Amino acid sequence: MANLAVKLPQKWQHLLSLADFCLADYELVLQTAASFREVLSRRTKKVPSLQGKVVANLFFEPSTRTRNSFDLAAKRLSADTLNFAPGTSSLSKGETILDTARTFLAMGTDLMVVRHSMAGVPQAIANDMDKLGGQVAVLNAGDGKHEHPSQALLDLFTMCSQFSAETPSVHSLKDRKVVIIGDILHSRVARSNLWSLTTCLAEVHLVGPATLVPPELAQIFPQIQIHYALDKYALAGADFVMLLRLQSERMEQAFIPSLREYHQLFGMNSDRLKWCSPQVKLLHPGPVNRGVEISSNLMDDPNLSLIDQQVTNGIAVRMALLFLLGTGGREKAIV
Ligand code: NCD
Repeated sequence: MANLAVKLPQKWQHLLSLADFCLADYELVLQTAASFREVLSRRTKKVPSLQGKVVANLFFEPSTRTRNSFDLAAKRLSADTLNFAPGTSSLSKGETILDTARTFLAMGTDLMVVRHSMAGVPQAIANDMDKLGGQVAVLNAGDGKHEHPSQALLDLFTMCSQFSAETPSVHSLKDRKVVIIGDILHSRVARSNLWSLTTCLAEVHLVGPATLVPPELAQIFPQIQIHYALDKYALAGADFVMLLRLQSERMEQAFIPSLREYHQLFGMNSDRLKWCSPQVKLLHPGPVNRGVEISSNLMDDPNLSLIDQQVTNGIAVRMALLFLLGTGGREKAIV
């Protein structure tokens, strides 16, 4: 286990966005996650790092992967976990989001993992917790179309692990071509990935219908390239292809003519694969719509798809995040 006996900077009090992450922050996450991946390969997959701490999963929006991944990560660190789902909570009796968070604070919560369909809710909860003077750390588990930091970090860990499984490093992504395809407009995963991939100096390309790729992203990230066709120019020599789901729950209007046409124009299939690097790997944050953003046979090909690895790595990465925020990097060893 790396020596983490350093006090982490203020920005590590909460994890709300990757916008202010630097290369050293990413490297710290990768190293810490690699240590926890080793823990998860042991017979006893549990360490006492967060014993006595309380992790509350406040998911105001549906989730399978992210919620269970954070829950298991917290349990593997020996924390006690509280889970919240809006349908079965007092929210349905008119309680506000901030009052819900304050209730969990009063129960002694140390770390709050927050997902909400509205951008900015995790930040608002973090501000409120700071105002109350507690030492609570808030982790953004996806807020509207804004950001999904832990997903981008597990994507980064999974990509970098391709080059060195034991000691993944951010430097391995320099000049690698990463093509992100699909509904960029509504994707918090894409936004967080844009921060991480550009900081790690990957060559980033965005592809999708003009209605779903906002051109203003090129102003925020001048180094990226935008394509409105999934052709050989967009895919030439791609090292990683990241597929995104059409986020129909966030669409207020019809952005594409039909799912069939979308698959024809922007679906990843065996024909298009030929333009990529021979070592290309496919990623998808899930949930996947088989036959829409990716054809079924590619998704199930273990030589191509990293989708299951993303889910598995998600636990180690979230252990790293809970550990770093829960201990401020003060703990020296995991055990
Ligand atoms: C993503 C999300 O919720 O933003 N999924 C996830 O967290 N694994 C992407 C999506 O919903 O399509």
